[in-house]
Amino acid sequence: MAADVTTTDEWQALRKHADEIRATHLRDLFAGDPARGERFTVEVADLYVDYSKNLVTDETLGLLTALAERVGLTERIAAMFAGAHINGTEDRAVLHTALRLPRDAALTVDGQDVVADVHAVRQRMAEFAEQVRAGQWRGHTGERIRTVVNIGIGGSDLGPVMAYEALKAYRDGGISCRFVSNIDPTDIHDTTADLDPASTLFVVVSKTFSTQETLANAHQARRWLLAGLNAGEEAVAKHFVAVSTNEQRVSDFGIDPANMFGFWDWVGGRYSLPSAVGLSVLLAIGPSRFDEMLAGYHAVDEHFRTAPPARNAPMLLGLLNIWYANFLGAQTHAVLPYSQYLHRFPAYLQQLTMESNGKSVRTGGQPVSYDTGEIFWGEPGTNGQHAFYQLLHQGTRLVPADFIGFNEPNHDIGDMHDLFMSNFFAQTAALAFGRTADQVAAEGTPAELVPHRVMPGNHPSTTIVADQLTPATLGQLVALYEHIVLTEGAIWDINPFDQWGVELGKVMANQLAPLLTGDRAEMADLDSSTTALIRRYRAQRRR
Ligand code: F6P
Repeated sequence: MAADVTTTDEWQALRKHADEIRATHLRDLFAGDPARGERFTVEVADLYVDYSKNLVTDETLGLLTALAERVGLTERIAAMFAGAHINGTEDRAVLHTALRLPRDAALTVDGQDVVADVHAVRQRMAEFAEQVRAGQWRGHTGERIRTVVNIGIGGSDLGPVMAYEALKAYRDGGISCRFVSNIDPTDIHDTTADLDPASTLFVVVSKTFSTQETLANAHQARRWLLAGLNAGEEAVAKHFVAVSTNEQRVSDFGIDPANMFGFWDWVGGRYSLPSAVGLSVLLAIGPSRFDEMLAGYHAVDEHFRTAPPARNAPMLLGLLNIWYANFLGAQTHAVLPYSQYLHRFPAYLQQLTMESNGKSVRTGGQPVSYDTGEIFWGEPGTNGQHAFYQLLHQGTRLVPADFIGFNEPNHDIGDMHDLFMSNFFAQTAALAFGRTADQVAAEGTPAELVPHRVMPGNHPSTTIVADQLTPATLGQLVALYEHIVLTEGAIWDINPFDQWGVELGKVMANQLAPLLTGDRAEMADLDSSTTALIRRYRAQRRR
């Protein structure tokens, strides 16, 4: 059993060092090292990562990488890439990195030729997508497919919707996508309300094919389709395809397994975008753009697997997160993409990071004695600036932030992109360096207002810049964060690849459903609050 990380010399050294850093301002760190802004940077594929505006020195980074070595991070990375069962509680390999291996790579795990299997499914996806995009695959009445509705939730929704939105500029082939996830009936209602069933294709995405929300929405979609077409079950085959690991359940639902695209239990839901789960994205942007996204992922995978800790971007950023969460007391982490197309990126990252690292038990079953899993949140700039940045600039909390921006816009209109990016650069500088009382007073500010207008600065951020938001850079960004998650999980000695915490709520919802529908009157061991709430609901519900 590994020692509690907090008892190691490396952890204790960081604790001591944190006291010194608390007394240091980013202004001093920059003044003391004119090259800091260029030195504290790392490049990975097309991403330029500037971590100079973080509350760290060379010593901090040395201590953090020593901690990574102490917990065996490099060995854990190697184990993941080799297909070891590092998801111990489910006894599974963790191989999302295999989804983006090139065709000529070799990887056999548990007797399975993983690369051959991955590329066989990708080939089928590409052929299917080309048929739909070319109008060869038509609906039941002979209409061309124009709208794809992805039905799924969690990893079966957030990855596809995030990537579809991010890559809208690359859409071609006349297919637009919509996404239904919530079991709130308004979601499927509003999503389908103005659609023509004759030209609509549903992609039902569920790893298990047993998720309540997805099945309820898929059943409703089928009723809507058949009623709209005034057709029988035979119409389903041309309007429904499935993405799942469970062929039996797909066929029980009524979807022909020939119209199913599979993946494997070694792909976690929140890591599944580069598998068949990305089918709706592929339908929208086409197979070669989708391949570019996978190549982007792969470039960062290779960097993570091979770069030394001091030059390894996901490792460094993961270790910085540990620094803030465990040594400087940060509770949350903001992700601020300066790209409207990335408006679902923070939501996607919430599942990736919080479902992965929101754990309080170590891999060996002991409770952790330290904080894990920061709360990730964010909004695209500049909207966030006019909402919550006030707290970032003058509030009392430490909120490390990632700023993500692009040199080239996807649509160049006048000087708007330059104005946009001037906000991007201004914010990280203002957060870091602020404005002193002397500076504020020198501007002629009345004395009584000076304290209100002082900007303390010393708010840390990391700046991530790519040339343009493309399928490749999107893949790189997602892989960067996936590997940040693994890095943090290794330090915390937790399993980022299970999600037992979401089970209880699902089980209880299924138990309570008969009380709400009226099929059952009482439930014996229900608490008084929930009992009273349900009684009230039933009394007021008009059917
Ligand atoms: O929210 C829990 C969860 O199991 C996620 O991990 C997963 O992405 C989501 O539900 C959907 O699961 P499925 O793809 O099996 O429908």
